[in-house]
Formats: sequence, structure tokens, C-alpha cells
Amino acid sequence: MIKKIDHIGIAVGDLESAVEQYKKLGFEVKEIEEVEEQKVRVAMLPAGESKIELIQATSDDSPVAKFIEKKGEGIHHIAVNVENIETALKNAKGNGLQLIDEEPRIGAGGKKIAFVHPKSTKGVLLEFVEG
Ligand code: CO
Repeated sequence: MIKKIDHIGIAVGDLESAVEQYKKLGFEVKEIEEVEEQKVRVAMLPAGESKIELIQATSDDSPVAKFIEKKGEGIHHIAVNVENIETALKNAKGNGLQLIDEEPRIGAGGKKIAFVHPKSTKGVLLEFVEG
């Protein structure tokens, strides 16, 4: 049911300087996009079959802003591809796991996404991405 790691999300304070740093490491920037619903701007950096997603909060009440306030910059979540996100959520819930999103929402790239609570994943915020 889990197909692959879609991307690893990294919370950053300033997207432009983060992008410059990652370019120096050899990454290329595929696109920079604002996801208004989540109050973030994201840059997608392809890494073979996966991506690095650099995420900057666009508002102080964005979950990413709160994350950086508490923990500083760093790995924020791991995203995995699933065939059908409704099925994946139903399955996780049915197995007694705690979800942040009971229903999918639209994330970067217009894809259906949903987050699973870190309490149910040994401390790692997990994102399902359909496709
Ligand atoms: Co993500």
C-alpha cells in the first residue's frame, strides 16, 4: 500500500536562503509554490524518485512557524505515496492510529494529502500523498 517516500519536508526560516544553500549542495529547484491553506511556501528539490520539500511559514500562526519556534529548523515530516488516500486514512484509523486529517486536503502540487499524528508514528509527522 505504501509506494515510496514522496518527499522529506524540512522547515526553514527563510526559503530563499535555504534554496541557495541547497543549490550549493547540488540540488536543483523544480518549483516554488505558496500553499495558502497551510500558510506555507514550499520549494521542491528533486532527489531521484523523491524530493526534498523546503517549507517556510507565511504566517506566525502557521504550524510550521510553531514547529520552528519549538524545535528550530530541521526535518518536519516524511511523506509517503499511497495509491488511495481515503483507503489509507480509513485503514490507519481502523487500526487505532491518531490522524491529524480525517479527510484529505489539497497540498503542494494540487495533490491530495493528509497528516498522521506523530503520537502514532513514534514521533515523526507522517504525510500521506496520493499518487
Ligand atoms: Co510535505
